[in-house]
Amino acid sequence: MIFVDNDIIKLNTPSTCLILQKAGSVVKMLHYGKKLRNGNFDLLSRNASQDAWANGYAISHFGKYDYREPLVLLENSDGTFTSYFEFEEAGLLESKPELAGLPASYGAAKTLELTFRDKRNHVCLKQRFSVFNDCDAIATSVSIVNDGAGDVRIKRCMSLQLDLPEANYAMHTFDGYWGRERAMHVTSLTAGIHCVDSKCGASSSFHNPYVLFEKTGRQQEFIAVNLVYSGNHKEIGEVSPFGRTRILTGINDFCFDWPLKPGEQFDAPEAVMCWGKTIRQVTEGMHDFVSGHIVRGAYKNAPRPIVYNNWEATYFDCRMDTVQTLADQAAGLGMELFVLDDGWFGKRVDESSSMGDWYDNRDKYPDGIAALAAGIRQKGMKFGIWMEPEMISEDSDIYRAHPEYAMRIPRGSNWYQRSQLMLDITKPEVRDYVVGQVNDVLSRTGAEYLKWDFNRLMTDVYTDRGSIYGTYFHKYILGLYDMASRIVKANPTVLFESCASGGARFDLGLMCFMPQVWTSDNTEAKDRVYIQEGSLYGYPENVMSCHVSICPNHQNGKSTAIESRFNVAAAGLLGYEMDLGKCSQKELETIRDQIVFYKQHRELLQYGRYIRLDSFWDGKYSGWMKVSEDQNHAIATVVVKEYMLEDGDYLFRFDGLDPEKRYSVKMRPQHNVEKVQEYTAYGDLLMTLGLNFGNVFDDTDRQENSNSIASRLFVIESLD
Ligand code: GLA
Repeated sequence: MIFVDNDIIKLNTPSTCLILQKAGSVVKMLHYGKKLRNGNFDLLSRNASQDAWANGYAISHFGKYDYREPLVLLENSDGTFTSYFEFEEAGLLESKPELAGLPASYGAAKTLELTFRDKRNHVCLKQRFSVFNDCDAIATSVSIVNDGAGDVRIKRCMSLQLDLPEANYAMHTFDGYWGRERAMHVTSLTAGIHCVDSKCGASSSFHNPYVLFEKTGRQQEFIAVNLVYSGNHKEIGEVSPFGRTRILTGINDFCFDWPLKPGEQFDAPEAVMCWGKTIRQVTEGMHDFVSGHIVRGAYKNAPRPIVYNNWEATYFDCRMDTVQTLADQAAGLGMELFVLDDGWFGKRVDESSSMGDWYDNRDKYPDGIAALAAGIRQKGMKFGIWMEPEMISEDSDIYRAHPEYAMRIPRGSNWYQRSQLMLDITKPEVRDYVVGQVNDVLSRTGAEYLKWDFNRLMTDVYTDRGSIYGTYFHKYILGLYDMASRIVKANPTVLFESCASGGARFDLGLMCFMPQVWTSDNTEAKDRVYIQEGSLYGYPENVMSCHVSICPNHQNGKSTAIESRFNVAAAGLLGYEMDLGKCSQKELETIRDQIVFYKQHRELLQYGRYIRLDSFWDGKYSGWMKVSEDQNHAIATVVVKEYMLEDGDYLFRFDGLDPEKRYSVKMRPQHNVEKVQEYTAYGDLLMTLGLNFGNVFDDTDRQENSNSIASRLFVIESLD
């Protein structure tokens, strides 16, 4: 709820609040954190220093006496770049205004809109805060309106500013590369600026837009921040000379320079923040925000199918007979959705050609893909298909007909990744072409699922339509959202999964259109524990697609028992991606049983409350739980990094259960484990002392895993 009491504005979520104070021409930010009773907040606004920038503000601009990184930086129509936005009014809105061309969260209870005006330069700045009553999230957005007679240039327009009264924060960022996405790094914020960003045209695997700020010291607390955006972004933590911390997130101002004509408005993407006393609290807040206010459409809260994907089984050699055999096997094992990956279109036999030619490859499919899809449905599975809609190969019919569709610089060599170029989707006719192609593939195959891939980053950014420096990166993302919204609207029952060379666009922007994301091309279980753990800090398991693949793993060559590969993949949306013909009879039986188990517990595994227990980052074990809302049903998983002889007992301390309830704890029977452990105990014992599983990892792990992980999964059921 939002309360306005004289000069105080208080925004409450279930356990947090943001307190702002109108003070003449400025709005001070007094507090963001634990919910406080109403009362006299004057104490919060006192500062020893009279310096203007010793204070905390709702917004900041450049040119007057605040030398911190600003929320906005403008070049005014007269060439000056001093802004002075004075507070004008605060209003409560029943619904959140749309941000032109941008996806955003939905279901906010109320929105506060603050209006600031730069009278000299005739520019208006609107800042909004939207509260969510069912989770501790507050979404923010910023718009700039040119009310003057001359052109203004926006050099920077961030989406969220948090001015905190103290220092001693650590910034947790989620960084990586292909195959090792979202590894958490912690940096202490000392004097100066720490920042992560992306300049490659995608949210990227280099730095995810999700960041966590930890207040260190006597009273630990956390603030999570994320951006509803899929392009270049920037997250800043700055400690000022006065020991204050400013947090900013938004579109990266690198190569950003947006002209704003008289009467025009620029909307920055939405950002979101969440406060908690513990990491667990902010993780839960963010999970609820994403599941309840970002993910939408037919698959929101719906059971997600168990996928079979042929990529690692066939790569480009996905011929009709091979694919049909795989589909027979997958259907026989209980899998529910067959995904035909790369290689089915144009003349595609390797990565060098055909991107953009989305017609059936008749050499591989003489009767066409629709016939394949019909055959797969007869086997009892749904049919899904892979496309990479934003790309073009030079060796393609579409390129030969429309070379101007490609994004490339006019003279000199262009940079190729995977032998392909990107489409210039800032052009409306290119977007129309893509939308037409995707809709056509979906309608002629009747596909129930689409994997939307994106396998290269932007280079040689250019369009032959006028000046682009400063606008292109953002216009590209607006183009992407335009296409995604048209396609999703035209195909409301299709399940969309986004992918970007694995997990390089794991962001809230695309999650508004596509409810699940391919987490990483690295499916090796040990590496996956790290990747999934990192992803789960800010994103719920119901967006996280996880496949069991063959061993030795195609990406890193490591081997892990198939039961552990499943135990790890079952942390998210389960799929299998392997040549089933190469599996032994025992492995196939194992897979069949895994699928039966996953179906039986699907709701809990996909939508249960995720709780992190132990972490590979901290030591030898990784552990997590999924707990039902009524606390009657839970699943706990434990993974040991490396099995060592006589390595001591494992004490499994559970969490999230009801201390008063009596539970049975049963190990999921695994094909590589002889004795199935089973216990009965009260929740308080399970959570306080934990269960001593003895040397839970036994000989079978040693034989099967040599030097990789071992794991167990437990089903916990209330007996009351
Ligand atoms: C990317 C994806 C893979 C697969 C290939 C196909 O690398 O991440 O899952 O779809 O493209 O070319």
